[in-house]
Amino acid sequence: MAALKVFITGASSGIGQALAQEYASQGATLGLVARREVLLKSLQTQLNTPCSIYVADVRDEEAMQAAAKDFISKYGVPDIVIANAGVSAGTLTENKADTATFRALIDINVIGMVNTFQPFTAAMKKARQGSLVGIASIAGVRGLPGAGAYSASKAAAIAYLESLRVEMSQDGVMVTTIAPGYIKTPMTDINKYPMPFLMAPDVAAKKFAKAIKQKKRFIVIPWQMGWLAKLMRCLPPWLWDFAMKNAPHKAHANWDWL
Ligand SMILES: NC(=O)c1ccc[n+]([C@@H]2O[C@H](COP(=O)([O-])OP(=O)(O)OC[C@H]3O[C@@H](n4cnc5c(N)ncnc54)[C@H](OP(=O)(O)O)[C@@H]3O)[C@@H](O)[C@H]2O)c1
Repeated sequence: MAALKVFITGASSGIGQALAQEYASQGATLGLVARREVLLKSLQTQLNTPCSIYVADVRDEEAMQAAAKDFISKYGVPDIVIANAGVSAGTLTENKADTATFRALIDINVIGMVNTFQPFTAAMKKARQGSLVGIASIAGVRGLPGAGAYSASKAAAIAYLESLRVEMSQDGVMVTTIAPGYIKTPMTDINKYPMPFLMAPDVAAKKFAKAIKQKKRFIVIPWQMGWLAKLMRCLPPWLWDFAMKNAPHKAHANWDWL
């Protein structure tokens, strides 16, 4: 069987890095995107597989077009494109300064996903194959207090991916939405509250790869959080408000990525 061709954004740390390592262990050819060049280069040297790195911000439409063009010209149409790059931060609407954080989270977590997929869609449709994978979050299932920007961005990602799934299905291209619960990465290392069913990134990456291979439409990982997500969806607004009254809030923005 021919080696998989996989393009992953947000590969410089956490889940994206673990996905790169997982697919490299399967002998895949990789295209890896992130802003931190040093981390990408060090990952590239560790991976024993053909691998191109692209130092780019997913908000930069032109840079993402150029990365996709280069990947296709070198390796051909990808089998899997994973829009994983994302940021998280606590926000409160009452804080004027947080408006910039709202904008940045929507730009990176939603528009960044569109910028990642768009340049591949024509070639994948023509080939009538492949999977577009979006990493959403269980935080997009209901609005979490203190995380309005993050919850809104992930809810938007979930809805966007659902639209895309139906659109692309006519042309033989699969769209998989993965909504992780808690995975141990730099994003969650700063959380000071308990994180139920916290999963190691290498374990998560194997489960993500399996779900992608099985062409799942929507999956929450770990599965225990999947049941929690189902319950969250069912709660009437008054009960949700009661349950969330004293919920811990996410830490505020890291201004580096604005
Ligand atoms: N960890 C969890 O429990 C959890 C739960 C639910 C969902 N998620 C989602 O999973 C994805 C990965 O998160 P993670 O936990 O692995 O976090 P992480 O370790 O902080 O990694 C985030 C990755 O995204 C990249 N990134 C951020 N902004 C970018 C931008 N503007 N352009 C290009 N790359 C950018 C970062 O690279 P650079 O900084 O080098 O650009 C980094 O590689 C995110 O979408 C996150 O929302 C995580």
